[in-house]
Amino acid sequence: MLLTTSCTAALEMSAILLDLQPGETVIVPSFTFVSSALAFTREGARILFCDIEPETLGPDPRHLAELLDDTVRAVVVVHYAGVACDMAGIREVLRDRPDVAVVEDNAHGLFGRWRDQPLGSLGRFATLSFHETKNIVCGEGGALVLNNPEDVDRAWVVYDKGTDRRAFFLGQVDKYSWRDTGSSFGLADTLAAYLLGQLEQRETIQAKRRAVYEGYLEALSPRADELGLRLPVVPEDCEPAYHLFHVILPSHETRTRVMGELREEGISTVFHYVPLHDSVAGQRFAARTPECPVTSDLSSRLLRLPFHNNLSAGDIERVADSLMRSLERG
Ligand SMILES: Cc1ncc(COP(=O)(O)O)c(C=O)c1O
Repeated sequence: MLLTTSCTAALEMSAILLDLQPGETVIVPSFTFVSSALAFTREGARILFCDIEPETLGPDPRHLAELLDDTVRAVVVVHYAGVACDMAGIREVLRDRPDVAVVEDNAHGLFGRWRDQPLGSLGRFATLSFHETKNIVCGEGGALVLNNPEDVDRAWVVYDKGTDRRAFFLGQVDKYSWRDTGSSFGLADTLAAYLLGQLEQRETIQAKRRAVYEGYLEALSPRADELGLRLPVVPEDCEPAYHLFHVILPSHETRTRVMGELREEGISTVFHYVPLHDSVAGQRFAARTPECPVTSDLSSRLLRLPFHNNLSAGDIERVADSLMRSLERG
C-alpha cells in the first residue's frame, strides 16, 4: 500500500498503471464522485457510464454486461456509504474477461467487509481517502492498495516522480534516474503521522459511527414504510464501514421541501452525487451516449443526514423526529 496525497491521486496512479491506449474505455458508475472518472480521462480513456442497482447504489451488473465490449480495460466499482456493491454479480459478468481490471474506489469503505473479506482487497487496485470528510482523516490524504504483486515495482517508480529512487534506497542500483512516467504522489510524513494517530483510534471511531448509524435506523425504522422513507439496504454478506447515513425520499419535490424545513430547524442535510453522465465533462468524455435512469432518479431523491463521530443520541433523535414530522406534513 502506498500513501498518497488523496484518493484522487491514488486513482490517477491506478490509471497510469493500466497503461491505457487511445480508443480504450473504462466503465465507471455515474453515481460517484468526479475523481472516479476524471483520473482515467486524464490518461486518455473514454468513459462508459454504468447505472446503479437500487439496493446498494453500486454499479448494476446487468448494465455492466450491456456495456462490456472489446475496448474496456477496467471497471471502477464504488462501495457506496461503505457497503459493498454487488461484487458477486460484477465478478460473474467479468468471469471471461481477465484482461479487464477491477479498480475499487474504496473512498467510503475502509474497514467494511464483503463475505468476510476487507473492502479494498477485491480489485487489482483499490483506493482509499483520508480527506477530512471520511471516517479516518488527515486533512487531505489517500492510499493506493496494490492487490497484484506484479504492479508493485512499477507503482513505486510512478509514485517517485518516474524514478527508481526506491531501488536506490534498497541498495539495488547505485544511482537513481528517470525511468517512466509518474508524479509526486506521496503523502507528507507529517500528515502520515497524524493518520497513524487516527488509525490507532480506529476501533473507537468506528464504534461511534456505528452507534450513529444504528441510532438513525432504530429511530426511523418503525415509521419508514408509512412515511414512504427508504432506509439504507445492507445485504447479508456485507459489513458496513459506517461512512454515512442516507435515506431515499418519495420524490425530488419532497426532498427540496424537507431540506428547507430541516434547515429552518437548524438541521443541515446534504445530497449527492450530481450524476456524472449528465455533467458537461461527463458528456465530453463519454464513449457513447449514456443512459443511467436509476442514477438520475435516486440521486434526485437521496438525502444524507448529519453524521459525525460525536453526534449524541439526543441529536439523532431530534434529526429523526424533525425528518418524520416534515414527511408527515407532505
Ligand atoms: C467515491 C469517492 N471517490 C473519490 C473521492 C475523492 O477523494 P479525495 O478527496 O481523497 O481525493 C471521493 C470524495 O469524497 C469519493 O466520495
